[in-house]
Formats: sequence, C-alpha cells, structure tokens
Amino acid sequence: MLPGFVDTHVHYPQTRIIGRATGPLLRWLEQSVFPEEARFARRPYASAVADEMIDRMLAAGTTCAAIFSSSNPAATEVLLGRLAERGLRGAVGLTLMDVRSPKALSLSRDAAMTACRKLIRRWHQHDDGRLEVAITPRFALSCSRAMLRAAGRLAAEHGLLVQTHIAETEEELAATRAAHRDASDYLDVYDRAGLLGERTVLAHAIHLSPREWDRVRDAGARIAHCPDSNFFLGSGRMPLSEAHDRGILVGLGSDVAAGRSFSMRRAMASAYDNALCLGRSVSLPTLFRMATLDGAGALGLGDRVGSLEAGKDADFVLMRLSEQAKTVEDALAQLVFDNDDLGVEACYVRGQRLS
Ligand code: GUN
Ligand code: ZN
Repeated sequence: MLPGFVDTHVHYPQTRIIGRATGPLLRWLEQSVFPEEARFARRPYASAVADEMIDRMLAAGTTCAAIFSSSNPAATEVLLGRLAERGLRGAVGLTLMDVRSPKALSLSRDAAMTACRKLIRRWHQHDDGRLEVAITPRFALSCSRAMLRAAGRLAAEHGLLVQTHIAETEEELAATRAAHRDASDYLDVYDRAGLLGERTVLAHAIHLSPREWDRVRDAGARIAHCPDSNFFLGSGRMPLSEAHDRGILVGLGSDVAAGRSFSMRRAMASAYDNALCLGRSVSLPTLFRMATLDGAGALGLGDRVGSLEAGKDADFVLMRLSEQAKTVEDALAQLVFDNDDLGVEACYVRGQRLS
C-alpha cells in the first residue's frame, strides 16, 4: 500500500502520440504535437482521449496530476467533466497560445481569459478542492507579453496554480531571447508578467543560469522534473542538485507525450539515470518522495495527499511486488527499476476505489 503517485506535468491531448520521434523540441511540436492537439476541436475525440488518459494514469497508480489541456475550451471542459466523474484529483489548465502558433490552436488573449474565467466558475475547487483550474501558458514562445500579463493577473486574482515550461532546449532559449527582448533571461519573462510565485510549477528547467536558480528559490516556485521526456527529445540533463541544494521543491512529471510512459515508476528510473549521467546520483527514497510527497507539495497539496498519514485524504494505491522483496530497500529497488509489469492492483482517492 503506497501513496498514490503524483504526476506534476502531463499533456492530455498528447495521449495518442507517445513515441513520435520527431524531436528535437521545436520540430516535434510542429510536426507531431500541434496537428494532434488540433484534433481536440472535435468533442467526441476529446472525450474518448480523456478516458484513455485516465485509464492509463490509473493503470500506472497515478491518483493526482497537473494536466495541460489543449487550447480548446470545450475540450478542457470535457476533460474536467471526465475527471469529476472518474474521481481523480488534479489541476487542469487551458493551454494558452496566442502567437507563433498554428491558427487552429491560437486563441486571442481576450477569448482565452474569458474561457479561463468560465472554467474557474464551473470547476475550480470542484468537489471540495479535488479539482482545480490552473493557469497554463504553454511557454514563453507561444504567448505574447499581453497574454502572459493577463494570465498572471488572473492567477493572482484567484490564487491559482501556474504551470508552464522553461529552459527545455538551447534552441528554445535562443528563440525566447529573440521574442522577449525586454526580459533579462528566460525566467524573467514569467517573472515580469507576475507568473512567478509559490504556486508556480516550472517544467524542465534544464538550462537555467545560477541567477535564475536563485530566483526560483527566492520566489518559492517549484520544479516539475521530466527526465524521460528530456532523454526522448534530447533536451539535455536537468541538474537536480541545483534545485535540491537550494531547497527547491521538485516533483516528477511524465510529460507525456515527450515522456514515453504515464508511469511515475518509469519517471523515477529515468530521474535516477539522469542524475547518474551528471555524476550526482540520487537515492531511491528521494526518488520515491519526488514521485509522491514532493510532487504533492509542488502542487500545493502536501498537507492533503502524498503520504500515508493520519489526517490526510486516503489517496493510495495497492501494488503487487514480487515475493523476493523482503526489505523496504528491496521493495523500493523493485518499484523504481523492475517495472515491466506496472503491478497496480487498485487506486483509491479519498478512500473511494477508482480502479
Ligand atoms: N514546450 C512547449 N510545449 C511543449 C510540450 O507540449 N511538451 C514539451 N515537452 N515541451 C513543450
Ligand atoms: Zn510538457
């Protein structure tokens, strides 16, 4: 019996395109991601994929997730409706894109803010806080300064989680510098827009300067570490120790579909490899904490879920591990590395069985 896994970064409309090896990042977005995300204009498609994603999360033992939707408001409604019905916990954001994006995915600032307000009214804090609406600028490249500022204001007005990508590849860094010339560096683009604070979850954070790392710490922002995605797109190695040495909270993200699995077991194994590549290995208890309690903390839910403690909500999974695992160390090693079979028998949120 384990706390349910927390996926701090995943893309719902990429569920069906796992494994499209058209990276690096910007080419993969153009060739594989944007055409697929445009399909979410069709409600039946959006609905079918929402259930597929939920099925796959539950099969992997994930009970809570911070989810990027598409930029389509109706598809985002559909997803929230399915999550409400199926019982998972999580935060969902309409993916904001108003510049340098295909027409089919672009939504103007005003239309996007109106849609976000509607989603907030309908879904934020649904079922006593089980579901939240997050403010979700895709990344600096897909958003105008006006969009980022409006997003920052809306997040502050409602105390919402902010999720976005940062410093994933060198190519993206150069393009961001050219697109946002007023900002001193990548993080400053978000900082100037009022998007940086204790409720901010930044995915990737591979190519940050020491100044940016210090500012992440001072702002109290959190990191979603997505190592399997970073390997798949060849984005680079996230220096986990830069975050941990500063006391920055780091959760793990599957980042499907750049990540190739919904399983946080796979994310833990990839995070282990990633740290090893950098010559700073990470312990299995730390990996397990990142996949559970630190992930919950990164989403602002550390007092409710992420560990099995009296007073918390009963979000947990039942898993089958082999008879050979006699000690906690054996069980952790098996959990992290020996995961051909996901081994999940049942998932519970607030004591209710979901699968
Ligand atoms: N940067 C902007 N959009 C995306 C996305 O969908 N996936 C990843 N991995 N990085 C991004
Ligand atoms: Zn992502």
